Formats: sequence, structure tokens, C-alpha cells
Amino acid sequence: MKEELEALLIDIESRNFDSADQVEAFRVEFIGRNGKMKDLMVQFRSVAPELKRELGPLINQVKGAVEARVAQEQSNFNNKEAANASGIDFSRPAGGVALGTHHPLQVVRREIVSIFKNMGYGVVEGPEIEDDWHVFSGLNFPPEHPARDMQDTFFVERNPDLLLRTHTSSVQVREMERRKPPMRIIMPGRVFRNEAVSARAHCMFHQIEGLYIDEDVSFADLKQNLLHFAKLFFGPKTKIRLRPSYFPFTEPSAEVDVYWGLETEVDKRITKGTGWLEILGCGMVDPHVLEANGIDSKKYSGFAYGMGIERITMLKYQISDLRLFFENDKRFLDQFSGER
Ligand code: DAH
Repeated sequence: MKEELEALLIDIESRNFDSADQVEAFRVEFIGRNGKMKDLMVQFRSVAPELKRELGPLINQVKGAVEARVAQEQSNFNNKEAANASGIDFSRPAGGVALGTHHPLQVVRREIVSIFKNMGYGVVEGPEIEDDWHVFSGLNFPPEHPARDMQDTFFVERNPDLLLRTHTSSVQVREMERRKPPMRIIMPGRVFRNEAVSARAHCMFHQIEGLYIDEDVSFADLKQNLLHFAKLFFGPKTKIRLRPSYFPFTEPSAEVDVYWGLETEVDKRITKGTGWLEILGCGMVDPHVLEANGIDSKKYSGFAYGMGIERITMLKYQISDLRLFFENDKRFLDQFSGER
């Protein structure tokens, strides 16, 4: 009887079914009222007691195997039937779920922020709707000063003192009035300017601002901070140069270029034949700005810098049209799916 039961187990597992009717016939054959299980139970009753101990579990195993196959095959054919009725094939493997990707601006923002964080900077954000003091007056832009025209401003119609910030330098003012030196902070965020949208300009873009104030901070410290950043971001061999410039809130002021090279035609075009590319504006915080914000300029000095995230992202990935960042075309965004 043992061999018989073992042969049955193999038979049960190897059956194939083409229809629900065949499954039903199989069920009746084994566990129907006059099925094989019934015969087996009859045989089992007359088996010697010492064999019962061994054969009992085996009989249960056969019954379990039949029930499991019947349940599985029935649900299989039920699904197929439902699928036929609804026109949906439930047996098809599920398609992969398309995951979103990090936006290239977000990738670059995070990379820049993490470099400065590792240098001991904290991260601070400020409001996008600002007042004149934080965007202009507190940064040494006198009323009617032509430097205000460097940045075409969106004003809030109901209240001419309110405007959309044109640069993240406004967060410098907020932090200087909120806390005492020493401070080392970077301030990423969105800024707005009333400019016609083109491949090179947009009315909304992103900046990262840096501010470092302590005793005895010098221009050499500024240069070293920025060189360190440039090497980590663009590669260890990166060279930078500082050109004199003008901003109302820094004195002296500079613009920083990285050496890009002049090897290809593209290099020549984007660097206008110089090999150098501008990446940011910077300078020593003007003592007037420190004093206007309650910081003793005899005791403390500091430096600041501001860079455009779009600009740096375009350089890094050789993207030639700024508008691509805001169209959210999946074919564009998917190219950054490998970036973390
Ligand atoms: N706020 C300037 C702009 O938007 C950039 C800038 C220049 C920021 C010099 C700074 C700085 O902090 O020191 O064009």
C-alpha cells in the first residue's frame, strides 16, 4: 500500500488540466463520494496496526495534495474566465512601475549644499515674497540707486514695499538681524526677475548664497573657500580666477571664473574664446551692511557669494537652453535618472 500511495502522490502532481471540467473530474476521481480516497480508507482499516502509524500520515498527504491542486487549478480557471469576460488578461505579468527621477536642478543643488555643509556651513532658507529692506536697502542699495536696475523686480501691486526677491542675498540680511556672529551659512532658494524668457534667461530661477562672518576673516579665506568648492564640484584640477567687479553690498567685489579649456569648438564658443567661464559673484561684506544689520564691523568681517544653480547645472551637463528645466518633458528629465 505504501508504494501505491507514493505513486498516487506523483500522479497528483503531474496531472495537467485544460479546462475547469477536467479539474472537477479530477476532484471527483479522488475525493468524490466514490473516489479513490474512499477505497484507500477502506483498505487502511484492515492494515496491521503497526503499519497504520506509517501509512496514516501518507494517506493524509495524498488527500492534502489533491485538495491543494484542486483549489489552485480552480482559481486559475476562474481568473481566466473572468479575464475572458472582461477582456483583461489577468495572467499577464504586471508592467514595471515607472519611478520618478531627481530633477537636475535638485541634483546640483544638493551636491553644492553638501560640499558647503562638509565645510561647516549650516543651511538656511528665507521667504520668496520679501520687502524692500531685505532685498535692497539692507544690502546698501540706496533708494533711486541705479544698481537696483541691475535686477528687474516684480512688485506686489497692492503694496509697493512688497516684492518677489530678485536674489537670495535677502536671506543674508534676515540672518544677520536674527543671530550673532560667527556665522557660516548657505542659503538656497528660488528668485524672480522681470525678464523675457529665452534660452539664457528666465523670470524664475534658483540661487545659492553663502555668508561667512567671524573675527579676522580675509579675502584670502574667501578665495580658498571658493577654490575648495570648485575643486570638489568640477574636479581636483580645477583652476579659478577672481576678476574685480561691483555689488552694492560687498567691497571689494569679484566675479569668479573657472578654467574650462579651449580644446573644442564648443569650448571656444561657450567661453567666448577665453577658456574661462563665470560661475559666481562674491566679495567682502561691506562694513555698512554689517553695521546696518547690528554687527560690529570693527570686530567682525566676512565674505559672501552667490551663484545661479541653473547656470552651474547647464555647465555641468552641457545643457544649452534654460527653458528645458521648467518644461518637465520626461524625455529630458529621464536623462538624469542615474543621478543621486
Ligand atoms: N546677489 C547677486 C546677484 O543676484 C549675486 C551675489 C554677488 C551674491 C556677490 C553675493 C555676492 O553674496 O557677494 O546677482
